[in-house]
Amino acid sequence: MSVTLTFHGHSALSLNVDGVKLVVDPFFSGNPLAKTKAAAVNPDYILLTHGHGDHVGDAIAIARRTGATVIANFEIASWVENQGHHKVHGQHIGGGYNHPFGHVKFTPALHGSMLPDGSNGGMPGGLLLTVGGKRIYISGDTALFSDMALIGRGGLDLAVLCIGDNYTMGPDDSILALDYLKPKRVVPCHYNTWPVIEVDVHAWAARVAAETASQPLVMGVDESHTLS
Ligand code: NI
Ligand code: MN
Repeated sequence: MSVTLTFHGHSALSLNVDGVKLVVDPFFSGNPLAKTKAAAVNPDYILLTHGHGDHVGDAIAIARRTGATVIANFEIASWVENQGHHKVHGQHIGGGYNHPFGHVKFTPALHGSMLPDGSNGGMPGGLLLTVGGKRIYISGDTALFSDMALIGRGGLDLAVLCIGDNYTMGPDDSILALDYLKPKRVVPCHYNTWPVIEVDVHAWAARVAAETASQPLVMGVDESHTLS
């Protein structure tokens, strides 16, 4: 069993779980950090944390072209169906499901979720994945909340946390989040995409190393890391 994570810039990432390809929050077109073109992404599953344009991104185009199944909250899954793509799996906050590649549970997030056309995107979420023998938490866009301690129960091999501030947790709150989550490794996301979320990521990583028990893993765009 193996899980390889590839970071595409902002909050877009891919996971390869024993050959099954997942893409999370596929924001490629218009993503100032992205090097990969949406047309080159060929997932089996598309996972969406919430309805904002910098997360839904190219989901519809990729889904239509590849026939990928879209996993999202009920409202976003319904919106995807209304775009004419019917391979969807709706879940909701607190709910888990055993997909062919592993278990996906939607976790709470303190944020918004309006879809790009103004449709109701339901509640924003995060993702707790149990895939390839690893437990991975992807925070989505969120403020810090102390129930992250519940997500951390059972152990986390990896957490992908927003650190950019302004719209989400900033560096200080993401370090407090690590106190609740206690992941072995942490990958930062949702920073340096635009000036308003600029962060000195190396200073952040130094703080993580000094102040928490987690190992920081700052990933370059399109860099991959295999969890072992
Ligand atoms: Ni957002
Ligand atoms: Mn966002």
